[in-house]
Amino acid sequence: MSRTSLTRFLIEEQHARRINADLRQLVAVVARACTSISIAVSKGALGGVLGDAGTGNVQGEAQKKLDVISNEILLEANAWGGHLAACASEEMDHSQPVPSEYPQGDFLLLFDPLDGSSNIDVNVSVGTIFSVLRAPPGVEQPGDTHFLQPGVQQVAAGYCIYGPSTMLVLTVGHGTHAFTLDRETGEFVLTQRGMQVPADTREFAINMSNQRHWEAPMQGYVADLLAGREGVRGKDFNMRWIASMVADVHRILTRGGIFIYPWDRKDPSKPGKLRLMYEANPMSMLVEQAGGAATDGRRRILDIQPEQLHQRVPVFLGSRNEVAEATRYHREHD
Ligand code: AHG
Ligand code: MN
Ligand code: MN
Ligand code: MN
Repeated sequence: MSRTSLTRFLIEEQHARRINADLRQLVAVVARACTSISIAVSKGALGGVLGDAGTGNVQGEAQKKLDVISNEILLEANAWGGHLAACASEEMDHSQPVPSEYPQGDFLLLFDPLDGSSNIDVNVSVGTIFSVLRAPPGVEQPGDTHFLQPGVQQVAAGYCIYGPSTMLVLTVGHGTHAFTLDRETGEFVLTQRGMQVPADTREFAINMSNQRHWEAPMQGYVADLLAGREGVRGKDFNMRWIASMVADVHRILTRGGIFIYPWDRKDPSKPGKLRLMYEANPMSMLVEQAGGAATDGRRRILDIQPEQLHQRVPVFLGSRNEVAEATRYHREHD
């Protein structure tokens, strides 16, 4: 059986005029960086990569060694290719233009270098999430403000999950496709073309320990899920929470479900936990491209005009009828 490698897939997308040569090269470089991160992650204690880095990031989080290593791998891989103008990352205070000694490209790359980093030390799946925007034309050295584009402007988005197998899930705006890393050849191989999120589900993913801090419509929505077939929903729901967004979203892209990280009263100054630019936007594009939906409880995530690079947002994404239902509870309450 002939296999479609990521390289071949990208060249075919270019021939179909869905991407240009620079975007093809950019995605290939990100995939190579993810392969390097996958190798580092899989070494675990033998590679000396577990544990804290002893530093903090702009999000107010303690950095793990692998947060820092993954960030460096992505920066280094993308610096010299000539396809990028600047990078922004969960782990960096500000965006970073491509060093002036290298050729400048047309794209902006944003990433969460290591998602789910609280799971590294317990050997649970983690991942890398990325988003690609166009640099505004005529800007020589893009800064933070040039990244503040709504998610609908993304030209590509994806994640790599470092699980029992390493998989890259990618969209360039024409469906969502999954590739599995063949560790023997070092090549990503297309294993699912056109992923489809089932419209309905009986599975939800949420950190229930925050329940008492949620706002009224969230309390009402989840109470009705928990009431099961005896309640207004008329069916039983199951719950899953991995605490790696990549792994929870991967499950939802594979078999459906709703992923929720709502606003809560624990820290009212923050509009949510997850980051719009590195987590919510790329995951929303992937889910929408697979027939799912993504809102902040009220609005479509991809329509939100960002005001800050590290902006946070409530997230409801996955099976479209269930996301519509959760969104209805919020809109009706307002
Ligand atoms: P990161 O490791 O990139 O900081 O992201 C962690 C996020 C996300 O992956 C996950 O869904 C969520 O935090 C888990 O939050 P809780 O610890 O509240 O469960
Ligand atoms: Mn983090
Ligand atoms: Mn994350
Ligand atoms: Mn992270």
